[in-house]
Amino acid sequence: MFRTACVSYALGPISLSCWYSLTVLYPGDGREIVITDARALRPEFVPQDLHHRDGQIDHLSSILDPVTYGERAEDICIYGPSGSGKTTIAKFVLRLLEAETLGVRWGYVNCMGDTSGAAVLYELARELGLGADLRREGFYSGVALDRIRESDDQIIAVLDEVDVLDDSQTLLSLYEIPNLSIITITIDESDWLAELDPRAESRFQSAESVHLESYSFTELVDILESRVEHGLISSRVDDSAIERIADLAAGDARHGIALLRRAARHVEEQDMRSLTPAVVDAIVDEAEMDMRERRVRSLGTHQRILFEIIESAGEIKSGELHEEYEREAQHPKAKSTRRKYLASLQRYGLIESEGFGRGTVYCATSTTA
Ligand SMILES: Nc1ncnc2c1ncn2[C@@H]1O[C@H](COP(=O)(O)OP(=O)(O)OP(=O)(O)O)[C@@H](O)[C@H]1O
Ligand SMILES: [Mg+2]
Repeated sequence: MFRTACVSYALGPISLSCWYSLTVLYPGDGREIVITDARALRPEFVPQDLHHRDGQIDHLSSILDPVTYGERAEDICIYGPSGSGKTTIAKFVLRLLEAETLGVRWGYVNCMGDTSGAAVLYELARELGLGADLRREGFYSGVALDRIRESDDQIIAVLDEVDVLDDSQTLLSLYEIPNLSIITITIDESDWLAELDPRAESRFQSAESVHLESYSFTELVDILESRVEHGLISSRVDDSAIERIADLAAGDARHGIALLRRAARHVEEQDMRSLTPAVVDAIVDEAEMDMRERRVRSLGTHQRILFEIIESAGEIKSGELHEEYEREAQHPKAKSTRRKYLASLQRYGLIESEGFGRGTVYCATSTTA
């Protein structure tokens, strides 16, 4: 198995202590700092050690093992609720693999940004270092597929939030490439499979699954404490505040880290002595708003149009929503695709729905807790 030791890779060539000395900047207005390394509080940060995921890291590493001797691995689906570490574990394991194996390339694409198959293949070719000369205009999907096929390397494609990908054909085309292994990431594997066309469904249902569950309270406390150690002056953070955050985040590490980030900023901005449970309670609504805004920013054009129609209406019937969408979108997506987008908006807690079929009513979720 390629995973020999937890190597220090996440920070690249800059050591942690050196980075600290580069980033511990004082605000310059006499206020004391509490944040020593803001990167450790960012949602996209891949930490040096992932807590409480040893079993899943080993499982994922062992499925990918064939790649280390030049063979294609089984396709993999990583699934689990938001904030369970799906994106992080994929990047973590692939960085280890890359550090230990020659002749391997991997590329990560989040399908949420642009959900069309061509856009995903364009991004993938560039991420793999096989498409620096490609231009978006006039891009032809076959070029990306040919370049992957012609590469001497074993290639791993990570398709995050794959449930919003517009067409199953892109997956099938990737599946046909002998030197390519696919890692798909989604919240609910069976919902995703059910939406695929039957050919793609039958291929991907035999993929190896890596299931991540929500973190327990004590697991989340460990994750948060490690972020405090790496990014904050820990003597100024009360243990009870971390427990309060873990309680509120209810198993979702993304949520927990968003609360910690907001609370630390609040302590700095208000020039307070310590990060206490009272600080956490004071910033809950702002932190939720932050998370929501980040999520909305990550939406692709068509999901955003649908979301904005629902948000400005407050509550809207399915028929009216589709009519309004068709008026606003330049090249409207098919209804089946729109339903997929609406389901993803719902999974991420941006909207809610009631009723079925034509009688469905959508409404935006509240921005305050
Ligand atoms: N086991 C862990 N140890 C340390 N940090 C973790 C762990 N799991 C998740 N995190 C952190 O929690 C945050 C959310 O993780 P991640 O983005 O991987 O979740 P996700 O399952 O992909 O969520 P989503 O479905 O919302 O995209 C990230 O900042 C990540 O670094
Ligand atoms: Mg993710």
